[in-house]
Amino acid sequence: MESLNVGLVGMGNVGSGTLQILLENSEQLAQKLGIPVKVRAVCSRSIQQKSLPEAAADILRVTDWRDVVNDPDIHVVAELIGGTDVARQVIESALSQGKAVVTANKELMARDGLRLWQAASAASRPLAMEASAAGGIPIHSVLREGIAGDRIDAMAGILNGTCNFILTEMEKAGRGFHDVLAEAQQLGYAEADPSADVDGLDARSKLAILATIAFGCGVPVDDILVEGIRRVSDVDFAYAAQLRHTIRLLCVARMGTEGLSLSVRPTLLPKDAILANVSGSYNAIWVKGAYGQDTFYYGRGAGPLPTGVAVVSDILHAGRELLSGRENRVSPYSFKQLTQYRAAPPESFKQPYYLRFRVENRFGIIADLAAILRDHQIGIDAVGQLPITNWRDLPFVITVEPATEGEIRAAVETMSRLDYLLEPPLVMPMLVRF
Ligand SMILES: NC(=O)c1ccc[n+]([C@@H]2O[C@H](COP(=O)([O-])OP(=O)(O)OC[C@H]3O[C@@H](n4cnc5c(N)ncnc54)[C@H](OP(=O)(O)O)[C@@H]3O)[C@@H](O)[C@H]2O)c1
Repeated sequence: MESLNVGLVGMGNVGSGTLQILLENSEQLAQKLGIPVKVRAVCSRSIQQKSLPEAAADILRVTDWRDVVNDPDIHVVAELIGGTDVARQVIESALSQGKAVVTANKELMARDGLRLWQAASAASRPLAMEASAAGGIPIHSVLREGIAGDRIDAMAGILNGTCNFILTEMEKAGRGFHDVLAEAQQLGYAEADPSADVDGLDARSKLAILATIAFGCGVPVDDILVEGIRRVSDVDFAYAAQLRHTIRLLCVARMGTEGLSLSVRPTLLPKDAILANVSGSYNAIWVKGAYGQDTFYYGRGAGPLPTGVAVVSDILHAGRELLSGRENRVSPYSFKQLTQYRAAPPESFKQPYYLRFRVENRFGIIADLAAILRDHQIGIDAVGQLPITNWRDLPFVITVEPATEGEIRAAVETMSRLDYLLEPPLVMPMLVRF
């Protein structure tokens, strides 16, 4: 092989960042790999309308992805179109044509990654997906190689830059969710349809991928408890500040003796926790190993160039594997063989919770709520109320001592029947040290 020839399918944010790096950094990439890395073809349905860098003048431009995967001169196909249906076809066809595959696709890899890895193994071709979770943070390599010697006990991460930007702005300026979301959309940080981000689905896919790599069991993405940030309000930041906490959309995975517990939800973090200081569109992951203990990884979770670096690094990795000629490929999941996923029962873990109520004021509300908590054997930690501005829509907060998710849910269900509640209580866990 005289050069490693690459085909890029998808020329949007990630595709164009990847192309830029492959062209601008070509000298150093060749030094790292030992042979030049050449982009042979780029593909998008509207490729003829796109303006590409001058250095891309000799690169084939195609509108049909099959022209990339069927090109006998291409060694590595990068799937950068997103979505699941066509992307799956691109990857499967590329593997069956004997290509190595690199993908940034979190949604597809969270749902179908294990099957696609089997297909790659059967074809004896590399499959790499560093860009699929936490974009510019090389967390896959860390889990797969850097700390592979450890046994991971827990992981907590901020994995969605859009939510982190929104929550940070709400906190800084005391603004409401919808106001900040509209600004994030104008700035291009949030999509016109923001649901994948603000409802926690994007973060859930990333957590499923990372948990599979960290714990070595195929995590079913739909098993992850997910709550988005739509209900978090400026009032919650005011109460969180009183408690010396802040709020972040936190992805958590904990391995206990009874199994794995996984969640994506807005969570109160103590202000001095390292994750609480992750602001704006940044991502971070904190990992707790049984032996090496705490390690922390921070960086850009998205964006054409940070994500492009991850894709290009994977292209190099695939190139090295192809050049080594090994039959057995290095698994992108770290574990040669994955074990059966076992969900931890909800009663296996207790944590403190923050409950925020909106009520129409009347006598005896706290007594009612305290009685419900008592009936469910949940202890009250504190009750907080900011000065009242509207007697018909009065927010206040109760924080409770560690309880199981089941106990809290049962109590909140009973509370939701109270006729003076303007909406069901907002429940957020409060992070404790693992
Ligand atoms: N954006 C980020 O920062 C980021 C970070 C990490 C991971 N990712 C992942 O990276 C992938 C790409 O994201 P992106 O933000 O770059 O998306 P994007 O900007 O929407 O780009 C998608 C590209 O794919 C092309 N495309 C779509 N369907 C196609 C088809 N059937 N045939 C050929 N080309 C097709 C689109 O162009 P045409 O419409 O012209 O076909 C476009 O060039 C997704 O899986 C995403 O989850 C993105």
